[in-house]
Amino acid sequence: MLTSHFSLDDRVAVVTGGSSGIGRAIVERFVAAGALVTVLDRTPGCFPAGVAFVEGDVSREEDVAGALDGVKALQGRLDIVVNNAGIQPLGVGFSTVTGDLLERTFAVNVNGVAYGIKHAGRLMARGGRILNTGSFVGLTGVPGGAAYATSKAAVIHLTRLAAIELAPQGITVNCVCPGTIRTPAVTGIPDNPEIAFAEVRTPLGRLGEPEEVAAAFHFLASAEASYLTGAVLSVDGGISAGWERYDTVAPPNVVGGRWLD
Ligand SMILES: NC(=O)c1ccc[n+]([C@@H]2O[C@H](COP(=O)([O-])OP(=O)(O)OC[C@H]3O[C@@H](n4cnc5c(N)ncnc54)[C@H](O)[C@@H]3O)[C@@H](O)[C@H]2O)c1
Repeated sequence: MLTSHFSLDDRVAVVTGGSSGIGRAIVERFVAAGALVTVLDRTPGCFPAGVAFVEGDVSREEDVAGALDGVKALQGRLDIVVNNAGIQPLGVGFSTVTGDLLERTFAVNVNGVAYGIKHAGRLMARGGRILNTGSFVGLTGVPGGAAYATSKAAVIHLTRLAAIELAPQGITVNCVCPGTIRTPAVTGIPDNPEIAFAEVRTPLGRLGEPEEVAAAFHFLASAEASYLTGAVLSVDGGISAGWERYDTVAPPNVVGGRWLD
């Protein structure tokens, strides 16, 4: 039986979008578990000692390929790639969506993940782990998600397609779908209505913390997750389970034990 206790000792990892929010929490968690981590991001961040940084845009295939090639050349191996970089344009329905917004959202959120899968698959040995950041909005309809939620639904399906394609190479591909998480993308919007919405609609009644999402990535990156592939793991306070906090449901239509029918 495996006895690694979720160690990532000497695992060579790349985390896209690792300069902020969920990505940064993944970087911290991977480093604490022993991994050698490189961040690919369009902006530099503040990292634990030993983390390398490559500036690049995941919507450009050459940036993704260059970063992954560089890490493999330097470290001699590539074990874990987290395709996490994303933009989150919510509040846009089909009546207002534009071609530019659709193209940019898909270029970053979908093409960026596809390039990560393509080049990780080329460079990884058996036992490699590819992890993608989806979202609960890719699993269920939300208002104003014409560009963003559609892109995250694609990430979920990309995960399944890549899982079956890379299985013969012994590389696993999984997806984590966060709920509403307290990151700069959410808290940086003044009076963001998504916060109050999430507090009411999420069964656990609060936003998630980036560290709570990073813990799931850590598990999926570990040796213990060897038989998981094509999985979609929700870390969302129960929002994808359906409905909302139980204390906010409509009044019952049963009175005195009788249906009002
Ligand atoms: N925060 C949430 O509530 C939430 C919920 C579900 C899913 N997500 C997903 O989690 C991921 C991380 O989101 P976050 O909330 O931590 O956001 P964030 O804005 O805090 O961090 C995103 C990081 O990605 C980088 N990035 C963006 N576009 C890039 C590009 N084209 N190339 C390289 N780097 C780029 C940014 O510079 C930033 O460092 C995203 O994929 C997002 O869609 C977030």
